[in-house]
Amino acid sequence: MYRDGALHAEDVPLADIATAVGTPFYAYSAATFARHFQVLDEALSWGPHLICYAMKANSNQAILKMLGDMGAGMDVVSGGEYARARAAGVPGERIVFSGVGKTRDEIEMTLKGGIRQFNVESEPEMVVLSEIATKLGLIAPITIRVNPDVDAKTHEKIATGKKENKFGIPISRAREVYAMAAGLPGLKIVGIDVHIGSQLTDLTPYREAFELVAELTKTLREDGHEISRLDLGGGLGIPYARDNDAPPVPAEYGQIVRETVGDLGCEIEIEPGRLVAGNAGVLVSEVIYVKSGEDREFLILDAAMNDLIRPAMYSAHHDIVPLKEAEVGVEMQPYDIVGPVCESGDTFAKQRPLPPLEATDLVAFRSAGAYGAVMASEYNTRPMVPEVLVMGDQFAVIRPRPTLEEIINRDIVPEWL
Ligand code: LLP
Repeated sequence: MYRDGALHAEDVPLADIATAVGTPFYAYSAATFARHFQVLDEALSWGPHLICYAMKANSNQAILKMLGDMGAGMDVVSGGEYARARAAGVPGERIVFSGVGKTRDEIEMTLKGGIRQFNVESEPEMVVLSEIATKLGLIAPITIRVNPDVDAKTHEKIATGKKENKFGIPISRAREVYAMAAGLPGLKIVGIDVHIGSQLTDLTPYREAFELVAELTKTLREDGHEISRLDLGGGLGIPYARDNDAPPVPAEYGQIVRETVGDLGCEIEIEPGRLVAGNAGVLVSEVIYVKSGEDREFLILDAAMNDLIRPAMYSAHHDIVPLKEAEVGVEMQPYDIVGPVCESGDTFAKQRPLPPLEATDLVAFRSAGAYGAVMASEYNTRPMVPEVLVMGDQFAVIRPRPTLEEIINRDIVPEWL
């Protein structure tokens, strides 16, 4: 928000952080993270529930610690995420493990370390999990992820609930697969899991999917299975374009959960990532040059696709605003906003209206708290973008920018070269 004409994160002017850490950098608001978590917690307050934050959205340990301290569980998709969550102090009994390709090493590590449940995605995985659990003398609590074949009406790269997607088992085969799980010695069935996609802006697909899950719960119980937990996945969308998007309201989502599965006596788990993190973060960047093309002006920033890949990868829109608020009545001008990486795909926005800007001006990409820093790379040997957490009037670097020396020294040139 702007205060006295300067964009702030909580009580800190973002320009002050830029002076302290250099650009580009991500900045997160602790209060916004907390508020998003609480809104969801309230939406499900009508019954027993656990919010397992999908830490793939933003897995900095400072963020995990903050959410963990508020009582959040974690949804992890790798041994690395599990280790990170544990390092941030989240107990194993609050961690669920999702993903289509859990390796033997990851299964062994998480079983030994302690885990709330595995969200199993296939029969071969089930067999391996049972085998490893038996070997360790442990029992693996599982849900099975069902694919309900509903259209989440989102970007094709992040839709997961259609039959052509690689995720889960077809809901039509659920009885058969649950029967098989019940016959495996190392497993204990605890519930059902479903996740239909990300950045859902319409709640109808949720209703459709959850109704199917409710029906399945009854059927599986009749078959003699214990279904005491329903993991309903994540996916709630956020407004990326402040002025146009009307995202779903968490309270309405909670209501749909209640209406569809609320009377089954199950503990509800959800795995939100973007809704918690997305609008709690910005990416701040400096204008390097303003370049006049034949028919357009290019704003060349010091942030690039390696720092925020969403526009290049999903044609995603991020609002981009100057750190210095535009004067009232100033005429907007269209810019193509690009980074320095040597690919045309390194384009953040085309013909985006902004107040006139010049070199050294600072801009912020909004809604960059989720799937921003975590998807960053060092492509073009651009140092990994740093992260800063703001709380009230204080801020701290929660991941520093590596020095060029650190980057260079990571490579090993074999002595026989
Ligand atoms: N649970 C499972 C099993 C998931 O696969 C995901 C996201 C989530 C929960 C969290 O979904 P969310 O609440 O954040 O929508 N990189 C993409 C998004 C990929 C989402 C992958 N799975 C992007 O930048 O839009």
